[in-house]
Amino acid sequence: MATFVVFEKKHSVKIKDIDEQHQKIFDAVNALYDATMNQKDKKVVSKLFEGLVECTVSHFASEEKLMQKYEYPGYMSHKKEHDELKKQIIDMLNGFINGSGTLSKSNLYFVKDWLYKHIVQVDLLYVDHIFYHSLGT
Ligand SMILES: [Fe+2]
Ligand SMILES: [Fe+2]
Repeated sequence: MATFVVFEKKHSVKIKDIDEQHQKIFDAVNALYDATMNQKDKKVVSKLFEGLVECTVSHFASEEKLMQKYEYPGYMSHKKEHDELKKQIIDMLNGFINGSGTLSKSNLYFVKDWLYKHIVQVDLLYVDHIFYHSLGT
């Protein structure tokens, strides 16, 4: 399968469950990219796209739960970013399903971009807080 996004060490938040969820999102993006590049039919691409939206939405929910549990001070702005991303990706999915059924390269690059940016610039910010506040729990 084509590798469009690569999960690297620098993406690790050192929380096993979250790393696994991120990895799952990366896999879903690669699958979607692969199907798009190989011009798979709309049904196949829709299913993969829905899979990506599903694992992203459930990942955001578990990250938010974790931040709340440890009273992370950046919770509100982090959640706001999740909400925006969620809206954008769902809009994109609906546009795909109701539209021509083609996913543009710029759509895929948008997904790739937010994935990298969000994990590196936003997710990694909660790592220390959660680590210190989870000690002894
Ligand atoms: Fe996040
Ligand atoms: Fe995340």
